Amino acid sequence: MEKFLASLRELEEAGQAAIRSATAPEDLEQARIEFLGRKAQLTRLLRSVGELPQDQRRSAGAEANRVKKQLLELAEARAAELTAVAGAPVADIDPTLPGRVRWRGARHPCTLVTDEICGIFKELGFSRARGPEAETTWYNFTALNTSLDHPAADEQDTFYLGDDTLLRTHTSPVQARVMERSQPPVRIVVPGFVFRRDPFDASHAPAFEQIEGLAVDEGISFVDFKASISYFVHRFFGPDAAIRFRPSFFPFTEPSAEVDVSCAICAGAGCSTCKGTGWLEIMGAGMVDPAVFENVGYDPERYTGFAFGMGVGRIAMLRYQIPDIRLLYDGDIRFLQQFEDA
Ligand code: PHE
Repeated sequence: MEKFLASLRELEEAGQAAIRSATAPEDLEQARIEFLGRKAQLTRLLRSVGELPQDQRRSAGAEANRVKKQLLELAEARAAELTAVAGAPVADIDPTLPGRVRWRGARHPCTLVTDEICGIFKELGFSRARGPEAETTWYNFTALNTSLDHPAADEQDTFYLGDDTLLRTHTSPVQARVMERSQPPVRIVVPGFVFRRDPFDASHAPAFEQIEGLAVDEGISFVDFKASISYFVHRFFGPDAAIRFRPSFFPFTEPSAEVDVSCAICAGAGCSTCKGTGWLEIMGAGMVDPAVFENVGYDPERYTGFAFGMGVGRIAMLRYQIPDIRLLYDGDIRFLQQFEDA
């Protein structure tokens, strides 16, 4: 009997402590199982009352039941306290802390630059046109005077969707599409994605945006070509930008040129952005090759024109001093957020 009562006392104290110290409903449940559950010591003690001498059974049983009842009540009271705390307003909210800023979205730097460039050409009478990203070899190459065995048409450099269809490698096929369905004068700018089997590194991306330009009419000369490009460069890069037309080759323009702008970062002195040359290449361009006019049914004796194509990403990188082209395609909100007010 002495031993029985001593164990009971011990259990009572330990049980009370466990129930009172429970700070979460799970802790409380744990304590309830430990001290009042089917396998609890108290339960076993209650069952062992029958093994005590006859005359002690009644008082031992009563005492054990009292402890059990008391622990049950205590657990119930504690459970009520815990729910009250959870339901009540939490005292340690600090209402003076600034709230979380909501992501409002921003236009992508390529979109900003595309709109600005198309806006400048709009001043010269160019309207926007679009064409498909999945293109036929005819429009992507053949109509543009590029035979399929020309290095530029090398299967290695492109993503083919079938024998005769591919993801366009430039926006130039839209030149042919627009000329086929309309008569001169034509003045269009064509923004859009193009695809090449290029590495994805700091200055290349296998999918990137271009803006194509095309002007066709009677009497368009090389002077008009240079004047229009110069107008654009000065409007976009500022009146101090120097321009250089470097002879080049494209199958669909003749003569062809690569257009360079003086590096604004080093003012032409030579830096890492311009690879020490003081110049940055911004577009390929030239006078439309008569063969292209023939392919789309224009009279090459009557019409002349110029065309150009530029990489929007490169120009956005220059405008916003973005060091790595991959930043344009990562979709990182922290990067894009910087253009919220641009
Ligand atoms: N399509 C050429 C390219 O992607 C650029 C270009 C366009 C050159 C129009 C001349 C005329 O490299």
